[in-house]
Amino acid sequence: MSDVSVRERLPLEGRHIALGVTGSISAYKAADLASKLRQAGATVEVVMTPAAAQFVTPLTFQSLTGRPVVLDMFAAEEAEAHVEVARRADALVIAPASADCMANLASGRTPDMVTLTALATVAPVLVAPAMDSQMWAHPATQANVETLRARGVTFVGPAEGRLASGRTGAGRLAEPAAIVGALRALLGRSRGDLSGRHVVVSAGPTQEPIDPVRYVGNRSSGKMGFAIAEAARDRGARVTLVTGPVALETPPGIDRRDVSTVAQMLAVLQEVTATGDALVMSAAPADFRPENPATQKMKKTPGQESMRIDLAKNPDILASLPAGGVRVGFAAETENLAENAVAKLASKRLAFIVANDVTAAGSGFGTETNQVTIFHDDGRVDALPLMSKYAVAHAILDAIAARLD
Ligand code: PMT
Repeated sequence: MSDVSVRERLPLEGRHIALGVTGSISAYKAADLASKLRQAGATVEVVMTPAAAQFVTPLTFQSLTGRPVVLDMFAAEEAEAHVEVARRADALVIAPASADCMANLASGRTPDMVTLTALATVAPVLVAPAMDSQMWAHPATQANVETLRARGVTFVGPAEGRLASGRTGAGRLAEPAAIVGALRALLGRSRGDLSGRHVVVSAGPTQEPIDPVRYVGNRSSGKMGFAIAEAARDRGARVTLVTGPVALETPPGIDRRDVSTVAQMLAVLQEVTATGDALVMSAAPADFRPENPATQKMKKTPGQESMRIDLAKNPDILASLPAGGVRVGFAAETENLAENAVAKLASKRLAFIVANDVTAAGSGFGTETNQVTIFHDDGRVDALPLMSKYAVAHAILDAIAARLD
């Protein structure tokens, strides 16, 4: 699969997004959001309330989206603008959504173009609230949130932090990147081929303690596993990501469980795979752990020239988990790729194994790209070119989706 076809699959490419902007100091962030959506290939149509136009001019959005902005239904270029925008939308995002906007949405009142569009659309709706923390916590607002959730509206944020009032608390508009992530998850759920499925992904290294400050680990950055989690989310799956210690941010809309050792990874996977339709083991768990980790920091003694650490075998996670769902393993190899991968495919009872030569340029640990060969349990072999890890993730998910079908 080429990167071009991955781009076509990107959840926002070619999608029609209606962006509703209501009155809030954070309305300036909606300009960044509009720009990000357009850069991702979406057509963005902005509808605004008069209050929003007090903060950011319609011209700003018009310039960023390359499309007319609808503020006043009666002045719109298009007759029945609210119905037309609502009909074209693959999703409606309201960001920022003020307390007043949410009250109107909950009661079905339509005093402006944003609420009119919301009432007229059958597309999924994503609401990103922004208001003072006391307004957000008010029982009236919370009741409106519950009403809207019960009707299928999805919320992103509000985030905690410093507010325009000078107070600190929940009420900040979610960051544009988080809103884009939530939108990708929402679009995936509404029409992705993994919608309704639960995909479990493991990522990253494990750290097996030698003493309180040292560990046995490896070079896994977690990028491969996080890309699989993100791609599965984009295709509509509910995703649980079980990860060793990595320096990566959690993609929005993903349930992340942090672990450190193989024992912890196994325990969490035993719990979460119980409801899993598929498990992708892209983590690099340590095969061995220090047998007797010291409880205090180990000191070197005068004249000491060497030291010995006895290692005990860790459980094989894949082999220890009860059978169920589509099981996918990885094989990180430095030689005899095919031979070693096929042996692991059989011994670990997998549907298929994704083999990567971790010594090849651009492949394996820490890279943005990977070159893999997929060995299936029925003998089929798919040798893929060097691609982004996100593209590799889609190739893996294609094979999983085919099995689930
Ligand atoms: O994280 P990145 O920097 O993006 O790098 C990606 C990667 C190189 C880590 C990834 O592509 C990869 O190859 N992951 C598997 C690493 C590994 O542990 O390979 P293995 O051949 O040693 O293990 C075979 C399979 O058994 C793997 O699916 C592994 O998760 C699993 N395993 C290994 C040990 C163990 N105790 N239990 C297991 O279940």
